[in-house]
Amino acid sequence: MASQIKEFQLACKLSDLRPNHPNTIEIDDRFVVVVLLNAQVFCLEDLCTHDGGTLGDGEMDGNCLVCPRHGAKFDVRTGEAMCMPATEPTLSHEVEVRGDEVFVRLRDTV
Ligand code: FES
Repeated sequence: MASQIKEFQLACKLSDLRPNHPNTIEIDDRFVVVVLLNAQVFCLEDLCTHDGGTLGDGEMDGNCLVCPRHGAKFDVRTGEAMCMPATEPTLSHEVEVRGDEVFVRLRDTV
């Protein structure tokens, strides 16, 4: 079955985001992590593909968000797993900034 294309939904205000800091936000009963990096906003599923850790509790290392449980790193721009123990990407969601508002369109598949 084809996955349904979702609408963009308001996630947060751009002015509330601290640069290089993960912000956990709930949208549609799902948790995502929004990061302001180099004046661009990115959004990942709040889920480490190694063992289900919450990425929003981690810290940034360059372009990567580091899982606080065992240290896997995910590129916030793509969701790609950059080091062990994670080997699979996490979901990367589409972001649109309109003025001071950040909108996210949730994906169900990578
Ligand atoms: S749960 Fe994230 S590195 Fe293990």
